[in-house]
Amino acid sequence: QTGAHVPVLVIGTGYGGCVAALRMAQHGVDVQMIEMGMAWDTPGADGKIFANTTTPDQRSYWLRTRTKQPLSNFLGFPIDKDIPRYTGILDAEEFAGIIVYQGRGLGGGSLVNGGMAVTPKRENFGAILPTVNPDEMYNTYYPRANSELGVGLVDPAWFDTVDCYQFARVGRKQAGRSGFPFVFVPDVYDWDYMKQEAAGTVPKSAVAGEILYGNNYGKKSLQKTYVPRIMATGRVNISTLHKVTSVSPASGGGYTVLIDQLNTNGDAVTTKSVTADRVFFAAGSVGTSKLLTMLKATGKLPNLSSEIGKGWGDNGNVMVGRANWWWDATGAVQASIPCGGIDNWAAGGAFAEVAPLPTGIETYASFYLSITKNPNRAEFSWNAATNKVDLSWQTAWKQPSIDMAKTIFDKINATEATIYRSDLFGVNKIWGDHLTYHPLGGAVLGKATDNYGRLNGYPGLYAIDGSLIPGNTSVNPFVTITALAERNIEKIIATDL
Ligand code: FDA
Repeated sequence: QTGAHVPVLVIGTGYGGCVAALRMAQHGVDVQMIEMGMAWDTPGADGKIFANTTTPDQRSYWLRTRTKQPLSNFLGFPIDKDIPRYTGILDAEEFAGIIVYQGRGLGGGSLVNGGMAVTPKRENFGAILPTVNPDEMYNTYYPRANSELGVGLVDPAWFDTVDCYQFARVGRKQAGRSGFPFVFVPDVYDWDYMKQEAAGTVPKSAVAGEILYGNNYGKKSLQKTYVPRIMATGRVNISTLHKVTSVSPASGGGYTVLIDQLNTNGDAVTTKSVTADRVFFAAGSVGTSKLLTMLKATGKLPNLSSEIGKGWGDNGNVMVGRANWWWDATGAVQASIPCGGIDNWAAGGAFAEVAPLPTGIETYASFYLSITKNPNRAEFSWNAATNKVDLSWQTAWKQPSIDMAKTIFDKINATEATIYRSDLFGVNKIWGDHLTYHPLGGAVLGKATDNYGRLNGYPGLYAIDGSLIPGNTSVNPFVTITALAERNIEKIIATDL
């Protein structure tokens, strides 16, 4: 409520925000969490909380009147359609050179993501977070994050036989035939539940192709892991459909936080002002970077570091499809949860997830999301003319990612005598080089903050999300975001309270 005073305010309810809130509350501190998206706890007219991938509706997109599907075309035909404007779950946020997909709602990206929960190889860690001691991460914080998130691995024997992973078995076979290692990738999906889905004994979500717009049953999003533990402390209040618009020093100490309450059309219905002793920025790489860039440029927090907004990367994401021969059918039913990848990081700078194309029909396509060692980094800046934050990323900066992904797929195409699909991202367009699912950086650890996420210039302000990581994690990022947040909050509780 307006005028309230809270010890800790957390902006955002994704991985970083949940870690901060849980540990602060367990330490006996009252916490207010602010989330601009919805709570996602109420079924729609179809009896389900989340919409299916094949039938997007108003629940699917954040404040859009037309869907913006990552795969925009099929057989060259555009597949986007009109939907009512609504505070839906997936934000396709458009900057000049890239679309950044993000989750909106209680649980942040955990609501929409594939749940792939990958700890980077230790030999790559020095390039991911150069100022962090790998021993503490690999001995303490990665294990803690994996255990809290409920990370598990597909049963390889079941994988070998089940219809819904035929696409991944084709991916494994073809990787092997070209001499690339295929690795199983851990995930937070409840694998016992998926076995029952495949057997037809429980309501389906992964096997019904649910991904991108939420998962109704088997995925252990933050709503099933950190959030119940947060609520069990009795010390945390969560306000959804509330968006933080300003943070500035309060005259009597602490910070004044301005918050717009939104309706489901995205309009601000009221503005609230609260005071907080400490504020954690956990609005995601883009959300935190946008807020901090704007607050520094507009004089609300002028002493923030000149490193704010810098060091942003796309985790080298690039997508591609390949057309298989008829004997390598990938299956009409594909589990929406990927469980394997092709590792050519050391030799070619690419780690490619063998991803599903859950269309419900046989497509003979193999589809991949590659994470690559793309060296390009962009910067956020305040645009006073538009009152918005711009991002300097350019589409052409994906070329290194395409080149790295080609180290895998040119070879597979040569071995299999197959070609790339050119009908998934437009007409005659092979590479999905217009987007990322993995925004990272903008308030880089040890640059814009100290080595634990304390924002330079303002005691009591912290960044604790993907904004801390300088652009690349070599694998899918949320386990690293969670583990780093666990590390930082432990230090902050021990020394700042
Ligand atoms: P996160 O983005 O999770 O949370 C930020 C929250 O803050 C959001 O809920 C947002 O609404 C809220 N917010 C923003 N601004 C605000 C404001 N001003 N006021 C109030 N609230 C605000 N990763 C992975 O490891 N494995 C995977 O399989 C995938 N797959 C995948 C698929 C898709 C489609 C997407 C979009 C993303 C993935 N990811 C992924 C990425 C992963 O989901 C992502 O890296 C994390 O969610 C980032 O966690 P953070 O805590 O940084 O922010």
